[in-house]
Amino acid sequence: STSGDAVGSVKQQLSKIFKASLQATFPNEQDVEPLVSVSTAKFGDYQCNNAMGMWSKIKGKSTEFSNPNSIGQALVRNLPASEIIESTSVAKAGFINIILSNAWIAKHIERMLLNGIETWAPIIPVKRAVVDFSSPNIAKEMHVGHLRSTIIGDTLARMLEFSNVEVLRRNHVGDWGTQFGMLIEYLFEMSPNGEDAGQQAIGDLQDFYKASKKKFDEDASFKEKAQKAVVRLQGGELKYRNAWKEICEISRREFAQVYQRLGVHLEEKGESFYNPYIPDTIRELDDKGLVVESEGARVIFIEGQQIPLIVVKSDGGYNYASTDLTAIRYRLREEKAEWIIYVTDVGQQNHFDMVFSAARRASWLPESVGSSFPKASHVGFGLVLGADGKRFRTRSSEVVRLVDLLDEAKNRCRKELEQRLENHGKLGEWTGQELEKTAEAVGYGAVKYADLKNNRLTNYTFSFDQMLNDKGNTAVYLLYAHARICSIIRKSNRDLEELKKGGGISLSHADERILGLHLVRFAEVVEEACLNLLPNVLCEYLYNLSETFTRFYTSCQVIGSAEESSRLLLCEATAVVMRQCFELLGIEPVYKI
Ligand code: ARG
Repeated sequence: STSGDAVGSVKQQLSKIFKASLQATFPNEQDVEPLVSVSTAKFGDYQCNNAMGMWSKIKGKSTEFSNPNSIGQALVRNLPASEIIESTSVAKAGFINIILSNAWIAKHIERMLLNGIETWAPIIPVKRAVVDFSSPNIAKEMHVGHLRSTIIGDTLARMLEFSNVEVLRRNHVGDWGTQFGMLIEYLFEMSPNGEDAGQQAIGDLQDFYKASKKKFDEDASFKEKAQKAVVRLQGGELKYRNAWKEICEISRREFAQVYQRLGVHLEEKGESFYNPYIPDTIRELDDKGLVVESEGARVIFIEGQQIPLIVVKSDGGYNYASTDLTAIRYRLREEKAEWIIYVTDVGQQNHFDMVFSAARRASWLPESVGSSFPKASHVGFGLVLGADGKRFRTRSSEVVRLVDLLDEAKNRCRKELEQRLENHGKLGEWTGQELEKTAEAVGYGAVKYADLKNNRLTNYTFSFDQMLNDKGNTAVYLLYAHARICSIIRKSNRDLEELKKGGGISLSHADERILGLHLVRFAEVVEEACLNLLPNVLCEYLYNLSETFTRFYTSCQVIGSAEESSRLLLCEATAVVMRQCFELLGIEPVYKI
């Protein structure tokens, strides 16, 4: 399917209808945007809230309307015919309550089942976006902060991709900077012959980093050599370039193990990539009169900020900011991205605020900060805490190795799965490979979901026991709920393709309607999660969907009932939407439990 098939969310479709009515009612006010939202009151499914605003706009100027309510009435009268809306009512203050048509909800679901969930993709007004995420630093540890960035960034990329936005998934690795002088010099010392440097001499990259840092801090002559090594590396001397490449390659292989487990795809364009373009960027900023001297450094003062953004250090070197200014310019100009999204801990918020301000002052980004594009957004997130409420560490207070962490999640899942199957006398029905794949899906899924379900700005406590619980708002619960729905469908022994062609969903029971309404809201939830960059909105929807399904399944008999076909289709639609939520959250569904 293509974007051409997407009809937009219910909210978008209702907005279109109300836009037409607004234009018909107020021929002189063609630009008014329809204000359609999900109903908070119980009088309708959605509401349109334009009457009040229009009233204050035209009050005294028009004799046609006597109060907001009369505007609401007129908007209803002028609604074009539509099969979406069953009925409307106008509240005293002019709000219009909208009740969706059962027949339309049913048809909308039937069409999705036939044509694919892609037809429920929201329409996002952006063609190309950059998502800058994960972005660990070479030779330093890839810590839980980078895990958060990887998980959150991947989800945002997936949601945008599903919405037909082309996404450049950028790994902005820290592969440049003064630490490399020290690392390279240390590498030379560890393997003086230079022949088989690399992995052998380095062993564990984190230990290697620590040892070289120690030497750098303690040994003055080493420090001097290290500083010279930076200059020789940046001057492009072959021996130094090669050592640098080797160190990067070892890091890269380590990062790849994490990405492979998480099923995350990234394209590396590290800091070094932008290095050749920095002088030109600084020159342009200078030409535009933005750069001034301050205490030997060259800086940009930003309104409302105490400390300026340093773009050239006092020793003439470039820094994190010089690179980010160059990267944002490159992404806008060369890559033609309309939305640039940076996923890092909240601690870097100030840095990005300053970079974005500078980009606006340089006219790379439009002056106005708002909902329009092109724009740049910082997606900040809080800390991962341990059970003690402090920063998450291992018992020996080391940084947690992400690969170990993910392996532990998987191993715990495998044990629990085997136990559960054993208890049901079903262990024999599973192959070792099936067990392993399911444990991976559930274990990695649990780690991701535990992160994503929280508002990203809050800190969250990492707890295997909590995230692997099969009750409550966890991936384990949701994955099992989905597998259970699949098994209901399997047990019916009905041909699903035939059923889909036959259609005939009916929503006569109240709990069927609630489920149907929740299903058709999928697109606008993805739209909201995308536009506000909040994956937890999608998690909440998924959890509610599973609860809504449970209510339906408790009150409505499926197999063997007179409504079996219709209800099986509702089961299938729930499974399809749940699977798409999993897909967008980077979680692999399981079909068997
Ligand atoms: N390497 C940085 C860190 O580990 C994150 C980079 C984020 N992206 C950027 N364009 N600055 O904190």
